[in-house]
Amino acid sequence: MTHMTAAEIRQAFLDFFRSKGHEIVPSAPIVLKNDPTLLFTNAGMNQFKDYFLGNKTAPWKRVADTQKCLRVSGKHNDLEEVGVDTYHHTMFEMLGNWSFGDYFKKEAIEWSWELLTEVYKIPKDRLYATVFEGDASENIPASTIALAKWKELIAEDHIVFGNKKDNFWEMGETGPCGPCTEIHVDCRPDSERALIPGRDLVNKDHPQVIEIWNNVFIQFNRKKDRSLEPLPATHVDTGMGLERLVRVLQGKSSNYDTDIFSGTISKVADITGKKYDGSDTKEAVAFRVLADHIRAIAFTIADGQLPSNTGAGYVIRRILRRAVRYYYTYLDYQQPLLHQLMPGLAKQFEYVFPELQQQIDFVTKVVHKEEEDFLRTIDKGLKRIDTLIKDNQGSVIPGKEVFELYDTYGFPVDLTTLIASEQGLKVDEEAFKAEMQKQKDRAKAASKVDAEDWVVLSENGPVKFVGYTELESTTEVLRYRKVKAKGKEGYQVVLKETPFYAESGGQVGDRGWIDFDGNTVEVIDTKKENDLIIQFTEQLPDEIPTTVKATVNSDLRAKTTVHHSVTHLLHAALRNILGTHVAQKGSLVNEHYLRFDFSHIAKVTDEEIAQIEAIVNNKIRENVPVVIKELPKEEALKLGAMALFGEKYGDVVRVVIMDPNYSVELCGGTHVGRTGELGFFKITSEAAVAAGVRRVEAVSGKAAADFVQDELKQLKTIKEQFKNPKDLVKAIEAVQQESADLKKKLEHLENRMLVGIRNELLKKDEIINGITFIGDIVEVSSADALKKLCFDMKNNLNDYVIVLAANIGGKPAVAIGIADTVVAAKQFDAGKWIKELVAPIVKGGGGGQKNLATAGGQDASNLPKLIELIKQQL
Ligand code: SER
Repeated sequence: MTHMTAAEIRQAFLDFFRSKGHEIVPSAPIVLKNDPTLLFTNAGMNQFKDYFLGNKTAPWKRVADTQKCLRVSGKHNDLEEVGVDTYHHTMFEMLGNWSFGDYFKKEAIEWSWELLTEVYKIPKDRLYATVFEGDASENIPASTIALAKWKELIAEDHIVFGNKKDNFWEMGETGPCGPCTEIHVDCRPDSERALIPGRDLVNKDHPQVIEIWNNVFIQFNRKKDRSLEPLPATHVDTGMGLERLVRVLQGKSSNYDTDIFSGTISKVADITGKKYDGSDTKEAVAFRVLADHIRAIAFTIADGQLPSNTGAGYVIRRILRRAVRYYYTYLDYQQPLLHQLMPGLAKQFEYVFPELQQQIDFVTKVVHKEEEDFLRTIDKGLKRIDTLIKDNQGSVIPGKEVFELYDTYGFPVDLTTLIASEQGLKVDEEAFKAEMQKQKDRAKAASKVDAEDWVVLSENGPVKFVGYTELESTTEVLRYRKVKAKGKEGYQVVLKETPFYAESGGQVGDRGWIDFDGNTVEVIDTKKENDLIIQFTEQLPDEIPTTVKATVNSDLRAKTTVHHSVTHLLHAALRNILGTHVAQKGSLVNEHYLRFDFSHIAKVTDEEIAQIEAIVNNKIRENVPVVIKELPKEEALKLGAMALFGEKYGDVVRVVIMDPNYSVELCGGTHVGRTGELGFFKITSEAAVAAGVRRVEAVSGKAAADFVQDELKQLKTIKEQFKNPKDLVKAIEAVQQESADLKKKLEHLENRMLVGIRNELLKKDEIINGITFIGDIVEVSSADALKKLCFDMKNNLNDYVIVLAANIGGKPAVAIGIADTVVAAKQFDAGKWIKELVAPIVKGGGGGQKNLATAGGQDASNLPKLIELIKQQL
């Protein structure tokens, strides 16, 4: 057992490999942006894949690091285990050392042995090594070099042979791979060790005999056809889970008892008033779930992935909601909790993963908002599950109900599955998927276009888009058809060679004209359908000639193009000013303006907007050329291209570069030749559109000039109305002050006037059946004044009924006040009288309380009659 802290243990690893000539590199982001096969980094070697395959030359031959990894989706799906046991995690740190074509098995094994036994001082007799026994079916020999090396270091009965499953490591279906040797440690007490030798428990899922380090010797590339191709060089890839190592070195039987998690656990105890006892109870599981999940949530968000409803974002949302459900149900805590853990976590990792501390406010806000959202529906959702569990005792919860929980209450299917399984139920996942599909189909049907069959005039395809360079084209009609959408008829036309840009990447489809031999038809939109570019028209001539002339509306196109190019400048400026978590979430680009949605939690402040505008306008003034290249995707990504969401790219992509150090984006849109053509840029609005997503609208080119002109015109009018003062703001403030003063004076005067009226009214009292009655028509300027007069009567009279009416600019207003004592004694109800007696007379309506009610109406001719009527009620 050591007294080293987790931080010291991590540092000792890095120091050790630095002393062996390794470069210490930072962890790659835990979120993977450009790998369609993997959402999150799941092994330390992910970021070095290309060095192993020989696609890239490594800048250093020896590297070591600690890598943030996440294993909840894809090949290793551990989420359900996490917290239930004491050693599975969602996020974990993988310590690793690498040789890129440099040292190999001998040194790797020697050094791992030296580190474990001499630096960490793990007793040698507790360690076991596994060695690959070879695989005849794939013609891979046994690892004789590794075996020979281990024989030098360790007793022979501590060497265990393993097959391909345990001792041949593969990254995934394809990619770098090779035999490996694992080091296992037996943490059982001596008495147990004496009974059963540790070697019998290696790789047998024993909680105390565990693998701590895997040394992989990368020698092959697994190809798509499953064959193994030897690599041009051999490499070392090792991985040691820090959490397990710390547990072993600190002599704990649970990862959660180490100082990696104890800080979070005691914070949760402080917040909830509960105590962690390390047991198997639901309460203890909840503590472990929180201690584990908070790390995955915090670091994925810090690395730029927001919780969402799809892909990597949904993985995070699922982890977060699982955590919420655990504290809600088992720690009996019904407020947002996770976000309170964030500062402590950021502090703990300040020196190893500083990205969390750097974005602490942002990450905390995102998590808080997510928690609030889910807490709003969790209670109803849990009650619904309870009912379902009762209704479906011991069997299966139908897919329809699981879908309702997902759609209405935000319960991810795995959370429902988990809760159901706690009560011995299953959920019908297939039927759930079918319900999801149905919803998608319904959405599709709602936007359905009724189309007749295509009339094919020529098979002379494929369609060619020439609109990057041409705005006019003399070409052939390949096909057309009649369509009906939203009750309107129209046509779709496909041309062989078209200058019309089809809507995509946020840019609207081109409009313009097609000239059918002197018969010109307007094109109102252009869209893509598979490989076809479709021009939309309202009519078509009866005769379609062989050759037509297609012309894009160049004015609209030019204005739209300006907004597309400036969107790229804006995107880069947003990332500069707000941070690299800013990712495009949607956009619209047309001739009038641009709209850009992006991930960001806080309001963009006026200062930030000014900075963003300044950066974009500087780039415009720099007049940099807009360079457009068609490149293989990999090369484009090397240039640092920002891939846009939701777009499909082929192998060759179009890259739009506006200063290679400023903006490089994959984009199929139309663009200006140089940024100077954009003229000027102005943000016109900023707002929230969804949780964690902001929207800016902006204009450029002539639209920006027009916008500024309009604003200036308004300003000029305002100045003129203020008689062109030197300082407009001061002039406005002066008027505001004057108006406030006048208002005060007016109120004062009105109050005095009301005092006068009240004194007159008090003289007109009559006593009817023991009640003081006042009824009169008064002259006031508002219904409020009437109400006030009635209300204030209680300060002057005891048992009273007062009815006041006024003719305010031809319209009647009535108020009735009744002393509370009279309401109680006589059951009078001013509100009822207003509705039943007054409203018909004034031809209007009103209402209120028993002691005070008012009415307004259209007919002021019968006010005396009305007063008489109320008087009769007494
Ligand atoms: N790639 C191996 C693993 O993930 C060793 O780093 O286990």
